[in-house]
Amino acid sequence: MIGRLNHVAIVVPDLAAASAVYRDTLGATVSAPVDLPAHGVTTVFVELPNTKIELLHPLGADSPIAKFLANNASGGIHHVCYEVDDILAARDRLKEQGMRVLGDGEPKIGAHDKPVLFLHPKDFMGTLVELEQA
Ligand code: CO
Repeated sequence: MIGRLNHVAIVVPDLAAASAVYRDTLGATVSAPVDLPAHGVTTVFVELPNTKIELLHPLGADSPIAKFLANNASGGIHHVCYEVDDILAARDRLKEQGMRVLGDGEPKIGAHDKPVLFLHPKDFMGTLVELEQA
């Protein structure tokens, strides 16, 4: 059911410093920061030949990643994102198997203007999983 790894998201305490590490130290192609107020994050995308790294920093007072950063002051891996062909079919199949979909279970438009859902980390070996309709 799942396809390509779309991205790995890393929450970082300093977007400019993290961008510099990926651009200057690791030699990757790094985007400018993009504010996503609807998601409470600012993102920087690192383009790799086979996938992306999404650097995330809290935006606004009630950012969903503020607590994560408070608990992981130097940053850390926040989620992995897998592509699916049909997000509603994927959701229904997962729910039938007892997996928990976060929020109200309806896909939201994610950082790449495509529908996304998040799955409960306790059902996936302690990893927050994002599904994106490719
Ligand atoms: Co993501």
